[in-house]
Amino acid sequence: MYQKQNIIFKPLITEFDLKVRIGVLVKEIASDYNGDELVIIGLLKGSFMFMADLSRLLYLHDIPLLIDFIIASSYGSDTVSSGKVTITRDITTDIKGKWVLLIDDILDSGRTMYYVTKHLRKKKPAVLKTCVFLDKPDRRVIDIQADYVGFKVPDEFIVGYGLDYDSRYRELPYLSTITFKESNPDKKDNHKNFTK
Ligand code: IMP
Ligand code: MG
Repeated sequence: MYQKQNIIFKPLITEFDLKVRIGVLVKEIASDYNGDELVIIGLLKGSFMFMADLSRLLYLHDIPLLIDFIIASSYGSDTVSSGKVTITRDITTDIKGKWVLLIDDILDSGRTMYYVTKHLRKKKPAVLKTCVFLDKPDRRVIDIQADYVGFKVPDEFIVGYGLDYDSRYRELPYLSTITFKESNPDKKDNHKNFTK
């Protein structure tokens, strides 16, 4: 049985506030954009909710989309200093010569974004930009920034709106921070049990 009672949830950003911010962000993306079709690539699983909202708003700005997803896994980032990222599911869209926007839920150490942009650049897109819903600059290991950022957040563990803890809470329509009660053995490392 899952021990939800050991976790303390503290609301961080309401559903209303995040929708308002995404509206502003999409306006920014739309005004910078100058291609024919835009390929948006979501990093699964965390970006699924953000992607769904972004794509519906880009439609309202009359931007024709090609939508694809990519899955990356990082191995041993707790114990191995390299924190190597590999692509376990690649895009199937031909992005050569296209405008591409890579979407992720959160920019943390920066490893995922670094490796995935490097991978996508080999496919020769005309333009490759990045957009993250959240940015946690305090935890950066690789010097990388996203072109579009929804919210800068403090170094706390966040769930909801696609982000998980131990594969759970992705479905929350708002953002919450979580901490652990004394009885939880995971309390010492809030960054231990999330998946991509
Ligand atoms: P990075 O490679 O360290 O930048 O990791 C980015 C990935 O780590 C994100 O796509 C998330 O899946 C995950 N992640 C980082 N911080 C959090 C968090 O606070 N909550 C949930 N997932 C997180
Ligand atoms: Mg993710």
